[in-house]
Amino acid sequence: MNPLIEKAALKPYNLTHGEIVSLLALEDTAELFSAAYELKCRHVGKIVSLRGLIEFSNQCSKNCYYCGIRRGNTLVERYHLSEDDVVRMARWSCEQGYGSVVLQSGELESEANTAFVERVLKRIREFGGDEFGVTLSLGEQTEEVYRRWFEAGAHRYLLRIESSVPELYARLHPADHSHARRTECLRVLKNLGYQTGSGVMSGLPGQTLDDLAHDIEFYHAMDLDMIGMGPYIPHAETPLGKDIEFTPEYARNQLVLALKMIAVARLYLHDVNIAATTALQALDERGREQGLLAGANVMMPNVTDTEYRQNYRLYENKPCLDENSAKCRNCLKWRVLSIGETINWGRRGDSPHCRAKSAER
Ligand code: 5AD
Ligand code: SF4
Ligand code: FES
Repeated sequence: MNPLIEKAALKPYNLTHGEIVSLLALEDTAELFSAAYELKCRHVGKIVSLRGLIEFSNQCSKNCYYCGIRRGNTLVERYHLSEDDVVRMARWSCEQGYGSVVLQSGELESEANTAFVERVLKRIREFGGDEFGVTLSLGEQTEEVYRRWFEAGAHRYLLRIESSVPELYARLHPADHSHARRTECLRVLKNLGYQTGSGVMSGLPGQTLDDLAHDIEFYHAMDLDMIGMGPYIPHAETPLGKDIEFTPEYARNQLVLALKMIAVARLYLHDVNIAATTALQALDERGREQGLLAGANVMMPNVTDTEYRQNYRLYENKPCLDENSAKCRNCLKWRVLSIGETINWGRRGDSPHCRAKSAER
């Protein structure tokens, strides 16, 4: 076996920056993926945890150059679900045995939205009890807002750093988007007691393997519990994506790089939760299964009503746009079974990393 892979599997954080770059540069990925998969099995078993994904609003005050629902894209029809609708989707997820939900939207900093989320959280707690997991993915907010949501019942927060390299971040965002604030938000979330997740896009224009190695080291430096990362996928109505040609070869390369990121993150971090994100499937029919086989252990079936899905298109080729939640449930169940794994029905599926931390306390 490749001695670097062996070394990484021995104990967490056992690679230098240069060694992470070497693993990301490997041409032959079979050994890398199977070692990462084996390590995943050692830490969490042959089991996949599910989070029902509720995309409750596509309104966003930000203008990220890569994203299809950026404020500047006037072709998008904007929506915001009602409180009852969000609660209904969460309840459905709970009844279906998903064990947890993720509430996601564009970035909205307003008292109206803060109070809306607070009310939804309290209602979810009423039927979900303590055992039902609730993750928020609602962007940068003040400490006070994060605290209110935590007290209302959220216990996990996902905030992708998008890139841990400030110079690259600056090229992907308008000048008023702050990398420093985003990093600070992650610190605040951790201090408040959230299980905290972050991640990046891989394959961004101008991004190097050195940048990606830095991202993986950032996950460790921030002591994250969950990693949600995926391939960058061009969107024609965005400044970054409008000139990129989405060829089969481009898709293939983006997929392989994203899978390598999962595998190397698993080999470096060992015990965190890593998602096989939907974007993988925008590149390949079996992209998410491949993500699981490269070391991921979480999937996020979309549970948003079908009529809204068209309008939550962050990138081209997003799967599940015409499917409904029941269909996605069956589809994912089949996909998980097809690779010989089982589903962690009805369980929150906390990462071993955060369980180890609470045991230390
Ligand atoms: N390709 C891939 N991922 C994207 N996101 C936004 N736009 C794109 C894109 N074009 C991701 C960002 C964001 C998450 C909600 O979606 O990482 O944090
Ligand atoms: Fe808004 Fe998030 Fe898209 Fe940026 S990536 S424009 S913050 S939804
Ligand atoms: Fe939605 Fe397959 S998961 S159709």
